[in-house]
Amino acid sequence: MKQGFMISVCVWIACVLNAQPRVHIIPQPADLQQREGAFLLDQSVQVKASVAGKEIADVVRYFTAAVKQVSGYALPVKTTATGKRIRFNITATEGIGAEGYRLSVTPSQVDIRASKPAGLFYAVQSLLQTLPAIRTNQVLQIPCMEITDEPRFKWRGMMLDVSRHFFSPELVKEFIDLLAAYKMNTFHWHLVDGAGWRIEIKKYPKLTGLAAWRVDDWGKPWDWSQIRFNADRSKATYGGFYTQEQIKEIVAYAAARQVTIVPEIEMPGHSEAAMAAYPEYSCLPQKRSFKDTGDFYGKDVHPNYCAGNDAAFGFLQDVLTEVMALFPSTYIHVGGDEVDKSSWKHCELCQRRIKKEGLKNEDELQSYFIHRIEKFLIAHKRKLIGWDEILEGGLAPQATVMSWRGESGGIKAAQMDHDVVMSPTGPLYFDYYQGDPETEPLAFGGFNTLKRVYHYEPIPAELDKDQAKHVLGAQANLWTEQISSYEHVEYMILPRMPALAEVLWSTKDARNWKDFNQRLQPHLVGFEQKGLHYSKGNFKVDIKPQVVDGKLLVSLETENEDGTIFYTTDGTDPGTGSLRYEKPFEIKGALTVKAALAIHNSMVRGRPAQQSFTLNKATGRPLQYATPYSKYYPANGPSTLVDGIRGTTDAGKQWHAFNGSDMVATIDLGQRTTAGSITLGCLQSYGQWIFFPQWVKFEVSEDGKQFTEMATVKNTVPVADKAPQTKDFTARFEPRSFRYVRVTAKNLGQCPKGHPGEGQAAWLFCDEIMVE
Ligand code: ACM
Ligand code: ZN
Repeated sequence: MKQGFMISVCVWIACVLNAQPRVHIIPQPADLQQREGAFLLDQSVQVKASVAGKEIADVVRYFTAAVKQVSGYALPVKTTATGKRIRFNITATEGIGAEGYRLSVTPSQVDIRASKPAGLFYAVQSLLQTLPAIRTNQVLQIPCMEITDEPRFKWRGMMLDVSRHFFSPELVKEFIDLLAAYKMNTFHWHLVDGAGWRIEIKKYPKLTGLAAWRVDDWGKPWDWSQIRFNADRSKATYGGFYTQEQIKEIVAYAAARQVTIVPEIEMPGHSEAAMAAYPEYSCLPQKRSFKDTGDFYGKDVHPNYCAGNDAAFGFLQDVLTEVMALFPSTYIHVGGDEVDKSSWKHCELCQRRIKKEGLKNEDELQSYFIHRIEKFLIAHKRKLIGWDEILEGGLAPQATVMSWRGESGGIKAAQMDHDVVMSPTGPLYFDYYQGDPETEPLAFGGFNTLKRVYHYEPIPAELDKDQAKHVLGAQANLWTEQISSYEHVEYMILPRMPALAEVLWSTKDARNWKDFNQRLQPHLVGFEQKGLHYSKGNFKVDIKPQVVDGKLLVSLETENEDGTIFYTTDGTDPGTGSLRYEKPFEIKGALTVKAALAIHNSMVRGRPAQQSFTLNKATGRPLQYATPYSKYYPANGPSTLVDGIRGTTDAGKQWHAFNGSDMVATIDLGQRTTAGSITLGCLQSYGQWIFFPQWVKFEVSEDGKQFTEMATVKNTVPVADKAPQTKDFTARFEPRSFRYVRVTAKNLGQCPKGHPGEGQAAWLFCDEIMVE
């Protein structure tokens, strides 16, 4: 009897523990022990703060406001609390750094300890992640647990570009809220660029009076020379800026969330907007004088500050003085990237500066520029940070480098004992695609999928232990050329930003992709409940052809290891009743595969992945090229031209490409085969330097040595036909029997006269050779 009771208690405890949802905190805490039982968060709970002070009060206020949102309870804050309570303690806590915390949850008490308010704030974020995202009828329980936690890196950043598109102060605050929820602590605010100046500078009112407004007929977001500013704003259809009062409020808002705002004032390049307002600080301002009315394009101004003009430095120092008064950040970002130095080459003042300072060239002039600005910042007890181009011509003595063109700039700087923030385009440019372009909104090319972000390692293997200490952390950048709405901003950072947060906060050993995916699911539910937009790119199924032993197999893959893939081959959308994918399957005739993922037996919403296959006598047969295809367009590997998938007008997929060279492919059909036509598909896309071949020759052979020409088909589409298009080149003949096929496509050779790439190698794109 007694023993029976014991057993039933154990079973009961196990049940309670099982019923208790697993804590799903992102980023994964350094040490988390979940215990049985829970702290019931109800109206009787009191909040106690161990010490007074604004910073701790900020954290407590943030917490009680958040609890009120999901519960409706206004928890009382007391200096002495009795009964069920949540205690905030600032104490020197051994083994816990400035941002760390200890959190202990028992049925009667939640106890939070940290040496600084930042730690308390991060404990709050961990706590809030155990509660529902929105107010529901759910009983609020915080699972009993013990957490000891602190971050791996001190720079956990996100950059937002507000120049190409402007986001109101309220939206910037929402952005900061999202960062704070995932313990990110640095908001790099890209406040100025060629497409608009967004920060009020009292001494230079034209910066926001003029350069913050444009006529928004900007068809090519990558080309800011096409930006049309509208001096008197009479025709301005787009613009905005932050007043200094708004900035102060945002800085305080961020500080209360433990987020430091690093402002960026771009120089010496990317400065069309500033130069539109104050052309006197650019090179050769006499090129064009602007009146206070009328329109002009970015291309009408020189994009750079004049490095030979002391008045330009005076202007920038005035601007930075006002910037420093607004932003307490130690770091001030000065840009420094992508400087088109041609205006300096032709400027008398710049050339005089080069001579006078004994500089070798314009690279050293850029270095002079950054050195001079750094001196000014250091005199004001600030530190300069800039994009990795600031290495060119010599790095300023104390500069911190933000490495974006890969990691090499960051590695070089760390080896020179400079601090570094890693922000390589792959995988940390969040303006890149995070899933199949066919189901994602327009983005810059390149794939930075959730899994790639999650597996990013900020410390390069090239650095030794001491050099590695210079890596302060990493950040992701959201450039907004293609992003005009805040919903789209959310979409691009969710869920990639939480993945990055785990990279930057959690220990390297704790990284576990499968586990992250499981913890992520409740967060995605929370995003849905809160109406936050996020990408499901991670759930997309990749339909991949594989040729194995002459057979065409299809494999279905997804980054997400937690779900089950269902597919159809009859054109219908897959559901949980459809075929369940287990292993690659063979395709024997023309059909369309549709595939989608189910998580916990529930289909992920959205368009399923889809791929049509067309089979012919060459499908799956061995193919050899006389000259290899470009490694930049691997498509589906060596069998791409016989994989049953036709290339579309999307140049990034399915094509094999030849730069300046011809395509010569020989296919072995395996045995004598009777056929009456051979076809080669090609792509023309003028803007991408891709042209149809001049002609395509089709030959057949019985022994693979002696070939007989069946036809040579000439191209009839003009090279200047700019619309992206595909074309089949086909040889038709009396059916005959042969074993080998050779197809030669003659590259145009060079981009034609009048083309932007005139005289340079033309691309030839081929996909699918069909024998029928
Ligand atoms: C950059 O992407 N130009 C820093
Ligand atoms: Zn100049």
